[in-house]
Formats: sequence, structure tokens, C-alpha cells
Amino acid sequence: MNDILPGEVETWQFLEATAHEVFGAYGFSEIRIPAVEKTELFSRSIGETTDIVEKEMYTFDDKGGNSLTLRPEGTAPVMRSFIQHRLHNLDPVSKLYYMGPMFRYERPQKGRYRQFHQIGAEVLGVEDAKIDAQVLAMLYQYFCRIGIEAVSLQVNSLGCPVCRPNYRQNLIGYLEARLEKLCPDCQRRYQNNPLRVLDCKSAGCKVAIADAPSVVEHLCADCDQHFEQVQKYLQTLDIPFVLNARMARGLDYYVRTTFELVTDQLGSQNAVAAGGRYDGLVESLGGPPLPGIGFAIGVERLVLMKGEQRVAPATPQLFIAALGDEAADRAFVLMSALQRSGVRAEMDYLGKSLKAQMRRANKLHAAYTLILGEEELASGKAQLKNMSDGSQSQVDLVGLADILLQRLQG
Ligand code: HAM
Repeated sequence: MNDILPGEVETWQFLEATAHEVFGAYGFSEIRIPAVEKTELFSRSIGETTDIVEKEMYTFDDKGGNSLTLRPEGTAPVMRSFIQHRLHNLDPVSKLYYMGPMFRYERPQKGRYRQFHQIGAEVLGVEDAKIDAQVLAMLYQYFCRIGIEAVSLQVNSLGCPVCRPNYRQNLIGYLEARLEKLCPDCQRRYQNNPLRVLDCKSAGCKVAIADAPSVVEHLCADCDQHFEQVQKYLQTLDIPFVLNARMARGLDYYVRTTFELVTDQLGSQNAVAAGGRYDGLVESLGGPPLPGIGFAIGVERLVLMKGEQRVAPATPQLFIAALGDEAADRAFVLMSALQRSGVRAEMDYLGKSLKAQMRRANKLHAAYTLILGEEELASGKAQLKNMSDGSQSQVDLVGLADILLQRLQG
């Protein structure tokens, strides 16, 4: 679990502000959900035999004896909220997005943390493949806007309750013949949840599934047509993608379209965003039978990818260096007036020498410095120094806040 310190937080603010802007343009509204939910919500939606539910949840009993869990992801809580507040009665199509911390007890490494942050989006109420393409177009546009290009969009279809059972049986048969190669977890769960083996991180399982049957070859006519249309619309919108028939995803609620944005810049934690369709999830949680699709972006991974191109912290536009009590009082009033008008103004509070104050102005990368001493107060004029080229100009102290405002904001 990481602290996000000044110097780094500016990149976070940029990533969040861009999400508000881009997602807003696609008609999405923000939803804010609690960090804690009933444990049952996650086991029922993500799936009892997934790594998240089996091993990674921060679960505890509250003082009332209820089992609660720190949210490991945002989709299930958004569905809970959607159903609870009957949002489908307000609009047949809901487009929602969220951002915030998620919690998974995983082995930490570069790009994988126990508290991490997601920016996610969900659409409820549309089965049409246009929405699959639009959700991917929005994700693609977001990555263009934040300036991260080294990603590849991989898509797959996982079929539906009509075609999945047939595929499952095939896959179970294939795995049965290679049981000794599977990790103990997969040996235990391959019957109940063979798709989990496709997503398993253990080396033996990865080898064992190399020639496993592919789900796209087992799609029913409806799923096949839906997936064809998704690909057609992606091509229409000029969104580059590759087919990855091996992609299984680590959560059980997916049907049909699934996708990941992957990069080769982050080692083994290569997914910077992922998602898919979850038709049937809302109904299984007690809501109306509405289809859904969405994604979540891992914000830490974006920050890692931004690397050297991080957003620089804002620097003061003006540093007022004051010498003596009277000048310091005058500087204080002037600084406050400028700050009220939105100018980033700073001064010294520690009674430092003029030289030390100038050093600090330099260190803070102030654009201008104003020097106020007894002489300036007596003459009613002061020197304004442009710190980038060293040039100086004289300014009147009467009406100085307005003069500076014009100069600094102009
Ligand atoms: P997920 O694949 O579990 O999907 O997570 C989405 C993204 O969150 C990952 O691609 C990764 O970037 C980031 N992430 C996951 N775990 C960690 C971690 N321990 N440390 C850092 N980053 C992490 C979901 O969570 C689904 N709810 C996505 C979705 C939304 N599907 C439909 N709607």
C-alpha cells in the first residue's frame, strides 16, 4: 500500500481529470461507491473459485457480526448500487464510471500492490455490439489523451450460457489428460472452473494449456455474430486490436466480449486495463435481466508507464522576498490579495535573510520575485525580477496587486 506524495500526485490528478473529461464526452456519469461491501456480494459475482475470492480478499467481521470485505474491484459494488437505487427506472441505458482504491491481498511486486487504484466504467442495458465498440473506443481515446501509446488491445469472446458448457466439457477433457502438470490449485478447481486454469499464473499451468481448445471455436451462432459485429465496429472506428483466444480473465462474471490492454513495459504485470461483458450479472444479484459491459484501468500501472513524462508540480508565479517587519506585513497582505485572485504567490515565514529568500525563490522555480525592503516602502516602488531571464522592472506599490495580476495572468 503506497503513499502518493506531492511531486507524484500531479500525475494522478492529470489522469483523473482526463478521465472525467473523456468519459463525460461519451455520456458517462460518475458514481461513488463505498470501499466496503458485504462479503457475499463479491463471492457471488466474482466467483467462489477465483483467486480473488479464494485468497485475496481483505475480509473481516464488524462489531455486529457481519462479514464485510474491502472491495477488490468496482463492478460488483456498482451493480449493487444500481440495483439498490433502481437506476434502470431513470434511464434504460446507464453509463457509469468510478475511480478509487481497491484491495487485494496479492504478493506485491512492480505494478502489483495490495491497495491499488482503478478508474472504471460500466454500461448497463445494451446488448448491441455497438456499445462494446464504443466502450473500447472510449478506453482507446483515454489512452491517446494521456499520451500512453505502447499498449495493445487484445479481444476475445468467452461465449454465453448456451455455448460455454460445451466448451467447458472440451476443456475439462483436455485438462484431465494433463492433470499432473497443473498446479495444486488448478488440480482442485479444474472440474468446477476450468477457465481459471487458462488464467493461472503458475508456470506448469501455462505450459499445460499451450494447445488447449479455444473458446472462439465453440461459440454459438448468436455469440459468433455478436463477436463478428464487435470486430466490424472496431474496424469502422479505426481502433487497432488483436484477437487473443487464450484470454480467460480472472473473474467469473464475464460472457461474450472480453478484452485487455497490455504492454511489454511492465514485466509480468502487463495488463494496464481490462474488462468485458457480464450479461446476467445484474439479474444474478437480484436486479432486472439487463446486459452489462465495462472495464477498469490500473492507475499505478499508468503512472509507472508515464515514467519520465510525469506531470510537474505547479510552481509559484510570484515569490515576495521581504526584509524587515513592516515589509513582511505588506508582503503578507499583497500575497493574500493575489492568492484570492488565483495567483500562486509565496513568501518567507521564517525570518530568513534576503539571500536565503532568493535561494528559496529559485528552488521553488518561482516565475517572478518581488523584493520589498525599507527602501522600497519609502520610495513607493519595487523591483520585479523575472527569474528565467534575470530582467528587472520597476513597479509602483500603489495598486500593486492589480498591476501584478495583469502581468502574471496576462
Ligand atoms: P481486473 O482485470 O481484475 O478487472 O483489474 C483491472 C485492472 O486493474 C488490471 O488490468 C490492472 O491494471 C489493475 N489491477 C488489478 N489488480 C491490481 C493490483 N493488485 N495492483 C495494481 N493494479 C491492479 C476488474 O477489476 C474488473 N472489475 C474490470 C471490469 C469492469 N470488468 C467489467 N467492468
